[in-house]
Amino acid sequence: MGNLIRIIQAFRPYWWRVLLIIVMILINATFGTAVVPEVTKMIIDQAFPRKDLTLLAWLVLALITLPMFTGVISIALDYVSVTLAQYVMHDLRIGLYVRLQAVGLRFYTSERTGEIISRLTNDVNGVSDVLSNVLSGTLSSSIAMLTTLIVMLSLHVPLTLLSLGLTPIFVYLAVRVGNVLRGASKEKQQTLADVLSVLEETLNVSGTLLVKSFGRQRAETARFSAISERLVTIQVHQTMVARWFLLSFHLFFNIVPALVYYLGGFQVIGGQLSPGSLIAFIALQSQFFPTLRQLLGIPLDIQSALALFERLFEYLDLPIEIADCSNATTLDHIAGHIRFHHVSFCYQPEQPALIDIDFAVQPGQLVALVGPSGAGKSTTAYLLPRFYDVEQGAVEIDGHDVRSVTQESLLQHIGMVTQETYLLNTTIRENIAYGRPDAADEEVIAAAQTAQIHERILHLPNGYETVVGPRGYVLSGGEKQRIAIARVLLKNPRILILDEATSALDTRSERLIQAALAELQMGRTTLAIAHRLSTILSADQILVMNAGRIVERGTHAQLLQQGGLYSQFYDEQLKSR
Ligand SMILES: Nc1ncnc2c1ncn2[C@@H]1O[C@H](COP(=O)(O)OP(=O)(O)OP(=O)(O)O)[C@@H](O)[C@H]1O
Ligand SMILES: [Mg+2]
Repeated sequence: MGNLIRIIQAFRPYWWRVLLIIVMILINATFGTAVVPEVTKMIIDQAFPRKDLTLLAWLVLALITLPMFTGVISIALDYVSVTLAQYVMHDLRIGLYVRLQAVGLRFYTSERTGEIISRLTNDVNGVSDVLSNVLSGTLSSSIAMLTTLIVMLSLHVPLTLLSLGLTPIFVYLAVRVGNVLRGASKEKQQTLADVLSVLEETLNVSGTLLVKSFGRQRAETARFSAISERLVTIQVHQTMVARWFLLSFHLFFNIVPALVYYLGGFQVIGGQLSPGSLIAFIALQSQFFPTLRQLLGIPLDIQSALALFERLFEYLDLPIEIADCSNATTLDHIAGHIRFHHVSFCYQPEQPALIDIDFAVQPGQLVALVGPSGAGKSTTAYLLPRFYDVEQGAVEIDGHDVRSVTQESLLQHIGMVTQETYLLNTTIRENIAYGRPDAADEEVIAAAQTAQIHERILHLPNGYETVVGPRGYVLSGGEKQRIAIARVLLKNPRILILDEATSALDTRSERLIQAALAELQMGRTTLAIAHRLSTILSADQILVMNAGRIVERGTHAQLLQQGGLYSQFYDEQLKSR
């Protein structure tokens, strides 16, 4: 019920269109259903016996012009209802997109991308199909049916009752079929989501690399084939159930008029009923059942729309974990002071990922986070731009708790180069200017030069206008990293988070990246998750992490002297070089 109210609310901004639709349907129902049989009756019962050719001509003219009139109205009706349904869908899509942009990282680390895409496409489209049906269907069918019924009753009560006598069977059948179809449609949406998930997972560069390198093409095809076949079964089942229903409807549709002819014929022969009335009655009755069928389909449509809406509302109601607090201030100019105050955090309850993390970074300093894989280095970095909120303690920038300022103003001061470089499938220029789309060409080039990638870009066939391909696969790993560095350089934030890629690069590439990073760090507060010796050696402070805690801290020289985990680490790194 709550959902139904929500759906109705979605139409509120477009109330005048709804009104217009109702008016047009009323006009069409009156002229389309009631008038034509009446005119037919007049032709047979008045024009013929009176041999009145003028009346006949007028009546025929009416028969010709009426469909034109109702036709024009029905086109206008279609236009208004399609626009209405499409606008409501558009609002829904935008609402979903805005919500999905606002939800935290946590959602995306658990939900399948294919499922998300499927809801925004398949489910929204499903709703829109149903909605246009329901919109024009409910009103026009019920009004048409009502007017037909009234005219039928006015013509002949017993024959009307005879025609209606068989409807319960028909209603029963429609309800049964409706239930079967509804179940199938729900299953179909889920299967469509599964299809998209497999496609999204395997049909991209990373997926293809994985599948090919393990020679799993056949297995993946089998997995896809199984889901695809499920779709076949559902679709065939759905169609056949509908076909059987249609057949029984047609039988029914032919039997009733035959009976009406027979019983009505008695009365015509007996002189109690005019032939015109009987023919008008049959015409009306032949309109009655299709509209009844349409009307019976509507609860079914509404129910399947409700099932789809439920899936959509589930997303619209996703909790926004990280939201600006009501009295959030804007963080304007900052010096770049970072402070972690006894911070604890966990991804899953009872499984702390960070325990009592406490450190301070002065403006312009470089802090290196080092430690084994899974120690919590990336997690620590994610707390600064507020990708997650701390469980205990606080993260502060220039003395402001990151939860007390608007996210927009917070993120303006933070630049990130992540462990895995992600580029959008657009030109290199647009990728570099992602944080500042209005940047001048000279600024983009300057950033690329500082990031040591300008020369390489010039050698590409289209220079800065080269499209980098999905996720930037046209470029090498090292090149992508340097583009990512240029991207942050252009944004020019006070605070820099650097999650260094662990993959080793050749010495030339490594040197280029080192130079680019050195430029990037200049004059900024940097939190670097460091794998490169160069970063570690030049750090003002090194924090050694293990199992979610800071276990050692100090400069390189101090830590070596302590002879703890860090010195072990350093020895191993030196040996491997
Ligand atoms: N989205 C997540 N959901 C649940 N647990 C997570 C999630 N991300 C990370 N973890 C867990 O939190 C711990 C810390 O992970 P984190 O990514 O911070 O490690 P890291 O120090 O950056 O490691 P690496 O050097 O390999 O990048 C790990 O045990 C990891 O399994
Ligand atoms: Mg990491």
